[in-house]
Amino acid sequence: MVETQNSETQNSETQYDVVVIGAGPGGYVAAIRAAQLGLKTACVEKGPTLGGTCLNIGCIPSKALLTSSEKFDEARHSFASHGIRVGNLELDLAAMMANKAKVVKDNTAGVEYLFKKNKIDWLRGAGRISAPGTVVVDGAEGSRTVTTRHIVIATGSEVTPVPGITIDEQRIVSSTGALSLPAVPRRLVVIGGGVIGLELGSVWARLGAQVTVVEYLDRILPLMDGEVSKQMQRILGRQGFTFKLGSKVTAAVTDADQVTLTIEPAKGGNPETLETDIVLVAVGRRPYTQGLGLESVGVVIDNRGRVEINGHFMTSVPGIWAIGDVVIGPMLAHKAEDEGVAVAELIAGQSGHVNYEAIPGVVYTWPEVAQVGQTEEQLKASGIAYKAGRFPFTANGRARALGVTEGFVKILADATTDRVLGVHIVGANAGELIAELVLAMEFGASAEDIARTCHAHPTLSEAVKEAALAVGGRTIHI
Ligand code: NAI
Repeated sequence: MVETQNSETQNSETQYDVVVIGAGPGGYVAAIRAAQLGLKTACVEKGPTLGGTCLNIGCIPSKALLTSSEKFDEARHSFASHGIRVGNLELDLAAMMANKAKVVKDNTAGVEYLFKKNKIDWLRGAGRISAPGTVVVDGAEGSRTVTTRHIVIATGSEVTPVPGITIDEQRIVSSTGALSLPAVPRRLVVIGGGVIGLELGSVWARLGAQVTVVEYLDRILPLMDGEVSKQMQRILGRQGFTFKLGSKVTAAVTDADQVTLTIEPAKGGNPETLETDIVLVAVGRRPYTQGLGLESVGVVIDNRGRVEINGHFMTSVPGIWAIGDVVIGPMLAHKAEDEGVAVAELIAGQSGHVNYEAIPGVVYTWPEVAQVGQTEEQLKASGIAYKAGRFPFTANGRARALGVTEGFVKILADATTDRVLGVHIVGANAGELIAELVLAMEFGASAEDIARTCHAHPTLSEAVKEAALAVGGRTIHI
């Protein structure tokens, strides 16, 4: 292990083995793994805390608000059916936000602790690659230059803007502003029926807002399995969401009282207007490479603004690597983390690898949505013969006892080999249930392997077993 010093005031002569730019889930994990492997490691981060978008203004604060708003909603709508009466139910939004802030602080402080524990230097400031092997860090106290054998770009992504709409983070907000609204809006329009739109739309709908989702395509969650999209649209509709599909917002005018949106059919046609109090723009994210100096060192960017890499995370410049949202693939924290581990291992001369066939995706609505592998639409498009096994949570004893019977498990298996090709779940704790199926896919399991595995009773996981049985046409409970 190379002796390192944890300090933010090292001189400009510092020579590292690895300098990671960006301390989100991709970058901080890459730094920890590199340090574990005995490499002298630094991580450049310009934000006031570590953890990037995920910990500060993404996954973690949104999950805190989703949990709090879920409890509020439960107290309002489902406690009575369990024989629990509450008097005047009141929302203390400031306390809810304070809880969210504490959850974020505990998590970002946790990463800082891990940096200290692994002797990783946090170089505070914005990183710029001035030459292969040289990183300039522009911080509050001036610039410093460090040299390094390897550079890992892990700068993540930023909100994709919508033409004609200016995000002010007050009335027209991105996910960042939507995590900190000072009051529950009476009306909220979400532009984009993807993951952020449905999760943050759910938070404010549960707290009392009338939520309208304007989606360009003719379905919500367009990248997920079609059956999942349909079912979630029905469920969220029952929760009070209104959907305007096949529509785009072309203009927004903000005045003292409200925002007036112009909405047009995606295929063209007569515009209509829609008044609202708050607009959330959630039409996707794009790679963030601003100010990195990539062009000057010859790092190639593809036509979608992503840093181009080979199959081993190496950019067009030897010694400069890239991982996470800034490269090809789903913009997911856990994908970035796995790439962080893999790139550090490759730099250390090991054979790091990520299996892109088995990356789960979870939407933290109520009920949750989780998937791994291919959708029915993808299998059909590639002409792969498959069998589908479905099981509804209405037939699962634990789901009935929990009072959460919405949703289903669907397992898609190869028609000839029975190998699991994809799994789609809508239901309570779907995000936890999917782990079993990700593991099954990692091990190349067949549906029969899952069907012959003992699942505890009474648990929601029995619906997974039953869906696997359904692939072979032999469910027990339906
Ligand atoms: P997204 O890609 O999930 O959804 C964007 C939606 O906006 C799509 O349905 C798209 O068809 C629609 N759209 C695009 N342009 C439009 C327009 N002009 N008008 C109306 N609709 C339009 O992107 P989102 O929700 O912004 O999330 C960004 C990234 O963050 C995604 O990659 C997502 O996977 C990730 N994320 C993941 C979470 C999770 O894993 N639970 C939570 C939140 C975000």
